[in-house]
Amino acid sequence: MKYTPFEIIAKKRDGNNLSEAEIAFFLSEYLKETIPDYQMAALLMAVYFRGMNEEELKALVDLMIHSGETIDLSEIPGFKVDKHSTGGVGDKISIVLAPLVASTGVPVPMISGRGLGHTGGTLDKLEAIPGYRTHLTVDEFKNILRKCGLSMMGQTEKIVPADRRLYALRSATATINSIPLVAGSIMSKKIAEGIQGLVLDVKTGHGAFFPDPNDAVRLGQTLKSVGQQAGLRTEAFITNMDQPLGFAIGNWLEIVESVNCLRGNGPKDVMDVTYLLARWMLILSGIVSDEKSAQTILEDKISSGAAYEKFLENVELQHGNPKIFENMDQFPLPPPIEIRAQRTGFVQEANAFELGMVSVITGAGRNRMEDQVDPGAGILMRKKIGDYVKQDEVLALLYTNLPDSEAMEMRIQDALLIGEEKKNPNRLIQGRITPKGVEQIPL
Ligand code: URA
Repeated sequence: MKYTPFEIIAKKRDGNNLSEAEIAFFLSEYLKETIPDYQMAALLMAVYFRGMNEEELKALVDLMIHSGETIDLSEIPGFKVDKHSTGGVGDKISIVLAPLVASTGVPVPMISGRGLGHTGGTLDKLEAIPGYRTHLTVDEFKNILRKCGLSMMGQTEKIVPADRRLYALRSATATINSIPLVAGSIMSKKIAEGIQGLVLDVKTGHGAFFPDPNDAVRLGQTLKSVGQQAGLRTEAFITNMDQPLGFAIGNWLEIVESVNCLRGNGPKDVMDVTYLLARWMLILSGIVSDEKSAQTILEDKISSGAAYEKFLENVELQHGNPKIFENMDQFPLPPPIEIRAQRTGFVQEANAFELGMVSVITGAGRNRMEDQVDPGAGILMRKKIGDYVKQDEVLALLYTNLPDSEAMEMRIQDALLIGEEKKNPNRLIQGRITPKGVEQIPL
């Protein structure tokens, strides 16, 4: 071995910068499994506390991209554009947005992730659809994209294997919320997938990995600059994650809500964020030059059913069974447990972090890297911040196949603060990230 793993861990632990050769050594030996998870976890924790400078981040992103193959989509016509979120609770935006944008003729190749920490993951949600496959070869990924303009897969042993391994390890070792680690993870996947444009949804608020808006802006600026340096047209937006997006938290529950969005009956907050990001995907692709024209096209694709048809087409091509959507109630859910209001008043807080954690505990997420998720587990909220509730009214339904549901019920009660005064939620769409900060968006 050229170095010893512990000297590199100690160097970062003590606040020094790592050379490209040191990062390359650590990552490649980890992928060869000569460096074990516990040493990588120690390095990740050192990076979490000490950060990385620009050169280290550049090296990390490049090494992660080239830890596997990259996808060449040049033979597929059109400007390929994708979206990624920094992670939220009830954040099912990709499942609605990808078919919506693809239905306008703009190709959407998407490499997504699984649940991370307290947040859900697009892959776990899609896999709740019976038969749906997210583990695709590059050829399958391209063929599906060519056929329906939309393809969704996860990291594999061949495509960004470094993120595949690190993602699961970070999720289980509380080393997610580090700007260089998030930037390495997101941007390596996105650059490797062969896109030309990228729209980023950077979350802030209770349920975000970076609750402080200043940190979220710094993350957004870092992501945007890595994307631009790689030659991608990149835009980033700050959106609020104090409370879950929509009402559903959990894999199948979120698929149902996504389908309702695609059928034109989605919750307003989910649709607002979906439309914002989709508008900018259309602008980046060059098919429109302003948000108003983009909005008109997108609304038409929802109301005409074209976006929903595109989703069904994708489900079929990825081996899912679209028949399940003819009667979504046939999906076997655990019996719901009602969580009732203990007093009358207004919902003042619906803490997204806490609700995300409870959703993990219901079985919808993972405590350990090797855990399987339960597709039917999760929480269905009935109320949002600002809603009036009467004592004993149902606030949420809890779905779990695991014992100890009383502890989960209590945690949900604690996450929902009810008080006399009506409080409005923080602004959902906070603006577009620029080198100077955040710019308000007119629409
Ligand atoms: N999404 C990712 O893909 N990676 C992260 O680290 C956070 C959100």
